[in-house]
Amino acid sequence: MKTEPLLRVNGVYWHYEEGAMPALVDIHLALYPGEVVGVVGPAAAGKTTLLLTMSGLIPSNYGGQFVGSVESKSEQGIVFQDPETQFIGLTVEEELAFSLENTGWPDERIERRMAEVLDLIGLNGFANRSPLELSGGEKQRVAIASALSHNPQVLILDEPTSELDPVGAREVFSLLSRLKQEKEMTIVVSSHATEELAAFCDRMILIVEGKIVLDQPTREFFAQVDVLDEHGILVPDVIRLYHMLCQEGVMPASSTGVPLTVEELALHYKEGQLVREGSL
Ligand SMILES: Nc1ncnc2c1ncn2[C@@H]1O[C@H](COP(=O)(O)OP(=O)(O)OP(=O)(O)O)[C@@H](O)[C@H]1O
Ligand SMILES: [Mg+2]
Repeated sequence: MKTEPLLRVNGVYWHYEEGAMPALVDIHLALYPGEVVGVVGPAAAGKTTLLLTMSGLIPSNYGGQFVGSVESKSEQGIVFQDPETQFIGLTVEEELAFSLENTGWPDERIERRMAEVLDLIGLNGFANRSPLELSGGEKQRVAIASALSHNPQVLILDEPTSELDPVGAREVFSLLSRLKQEKEMTIVVSSHATEELAAFCDRMILIVEGKIVLDQPTREFFAQVDVLDEHGILVPDVIRLYHMLCQEGVMPASSTGVPLTVEELALHYKEGQLVREGSL
């Protein structure tokens, strides 16, 4: 039996004041503790709008017509695409201090929390550095630290790696993997990096023109290559290769579903070889 959801979106319809069309239509979803959810969709599909709605910033901080409800039992931290636009502090320490300013915590507690968060994101020793002088990956890790400073149960990230080079993107996804494994954080992340999402997420949502088209466990989601192709979603190479190898008869279809990583594909291939040789 599943536990109670941390967040529930009930039949939400949202039309930005200036929008030509509704940005969200009839959105229903529930987010459970410890789930890691990826959100994909074409440009202007409503990914950012969906995350703003889950974080509670829509409707409160935006003008428009809102129908439905969002029930939240948790605090959320949100991280946006471009970390620089979020920085207000002159140093990393100041940046984190600002995000803890309204807590009313005593100074020692703030100090302790800042040290914990810097440790968590692997930026010990960065407290006095200017956030603007860090690498892209480090900047985004500082933004994640700010979002985590209040110890939210849910971390929401809108395309956190799209402004980063591949090294920075890997840094951010490996931090997110640590938060998932070590802290059992509940994470919602929109991204075009489907290869990373396939390896990282438990569940995937495809949103198109403000409507949820797919909302499924990651393996079932990525098996639907035709639907993903139809909406221009990049299908990870490992999944394409798997389908090609099955079609060519190089290996049988996997009984456990499509492989989501190179390691899974290699394992499945080896098992196929053993079956062929009659040793399994
Ligand atoms: N502040 C706003 N006012 C009016 N319309 C908006 C506003 N923000 C977004 N929209 C519109 O709402 C729709 C959804 O936008 P949203 O930014 O959520 O899409 P997205 O999937 O995040 O796109 P992208 O891939 O470009 O980040 C678009 O048609 C967009 O033009
Ligand atoms: Mg967006």
